[in-house]
Amino acid sequence: MERTFAIIKPDAVAAGQAGEIIAIIQKAGFRVAGMKMRRLSQLEAEGFYAVHKERPFYGSLVKFMTEGPVVVMVLESADAIKKWRDTMGATNPANAAEGTIRKRFAQSIERNCVHGSDAPETAAVEIPFFFSTSELL
Ligand code: RTP
Ligand code: MG
Repeated sequence: MERTFAIIKPDAVAAGQAGEIIAIIQKAGFRVAGMKMRRLSQLEAEGFYAVHKERPFYGSLVKFMTEGPVVVMVLESADAIKKWRDTMGATNPANAAEGTIRKRFAQSIERNCVHGSDAPETAAVEIPFFFSTSELL
């Protein structure tokens, strides 16, 4: 079993799509090991996306990620990291495959409704960024 970190981003929470996205996650066979709703502070969003600090979209991304509540989750399954990336679809919904979450719900390359860890090393940093051990069930 592997764990990955997921966010339902502010666009999807505001649009009332969190429940549908969680249903997709469960139908895809993930076990939800942790879940909570949070509003990210500026510092949290900057820290979480620090890897993109030099990118032109960084300021806009931080603004987007702090504009309203998000749902943060830890998902568990065999090959969870790749499986969740596949379930999300490509970063840009214009390139996302049919049946993926981003194809169905995302509005743009930035407002793309979900996040997923991209590698085991990333998941190992992102999970404890938001969850203590006692919050993972
Ligand atoms: P994420 O980290 O959120 O799961 O998304 P990702 O791996 O598919 O994409 P990444 O390259 O890590 O980019 C992180 C987030 O930044 C926003 N973005 N905006 N305006 C743009 O060109 C642009 N490119 C990326 C998206 O919200 C993307 O998910
Ligand atoms: Mg990424």
